[in-house]
Amino acid sequence: PLVSMTEMLNRAKENGYAVGQFNLNNLEFTQAILQAAEEEKSPVILGVSEGAGRYMGGFKTVVNMVKGLMEDYKITVPVAIHLDHGSSFESCAKAIHAGFTSVMIDASHHPFEENVALTSKVVELAHLHGVSVEAELGVVGGQEDDVVGEGIIYADPNECEELVKRTGIDCLAPALGSVHGPYKGEPNLGFKEMEEISNRTGVPLVLHGGTGIPTKDIQRAISLGTAKINVNTENQIASAKRVREVLAENPDMYDPRKYLGPAREAIKETVKGKMREFGSSGKA
Ligand code: G3H
Ligand code: ZN
Repeated sequence: PLVSMTEMLNRAKENGYAVGQFNLNNLEFTQAILQAAEEEKSPVILGVSEGAGRYMGGFKTVVNMVKGLMEDYKITVPVAIHLDHGSSFESCAKAIHAGFTSVMIDASHHPFEENVALTSKVVELAHLHGVSVEAELGVVGGQEDDVVGEGIIYADPNECEELVKRTGIDCLAPALGSVHGPYKGEPNLGFKEMEEISNRTGVPLVLHGGTGIPTKDIQRAISLGTAKINVNTENQIASAKRVREVLAENPDMYDPRKYLGPAREAIKETVKGKMREFGSSGKA
């Protein structure tokens, strides 16, 4: 069933695992991620960035595509459709009205008081519709679509506590050294801050930039209250690699099903591996 993130993340936090957010880029990504979740018996969060939403036609197209596949594939595991890095109240409202079950309002680049005001406004509308809300503090490095992180800024635990108390968000993404896209060298995650933020806010924490984080860091983050981990680049790399291989081996191939089908398999295997690593397999 289509659900918000609230219950899945609270359960994950209580039971010491994390639910993956896997970003949608097109039909094949959506198919692969839903199939992986069903085969792994794992809850799953389908992340949709504003750019990817535009690419696929719009938020309504995304919701209808997901609902259609869930019916055709007879999906039984909990699925959330989540706006990733929502940039404005209008964008979150549009996603909510199109049928998204969860939104992220990313006002992390605004001054703190503006972040609180904007996030509160989104929470008010979202909760009226049973939709969950994620907010962010600090700066995630790297770039993803329209979201450019200028350097890395660690979230401030005082601000985290205040933001959660004043807005009523369901989960929080404190930037603590993670990066969108591939890492240059080993990530240096702020585990001390993560522990403090988790203790002081009480809400499930979200780790952005899940691609390229070593398993030991993933496990440590989960043990310190991280209950949602976002992955996009790793699936994109797996898919592009497969397309390159298949087309190189078959220079005369032109039917997209013949190269996108294998790419879809590669995404599915990658997602299944992440679900096992995050401990969400068998938890649906
Ligand atoms: O919001 C999406 C994620 O943070 C994706 O990060 O592309 O580095 O896996 P990633
Ligand atoms: Zn992100």
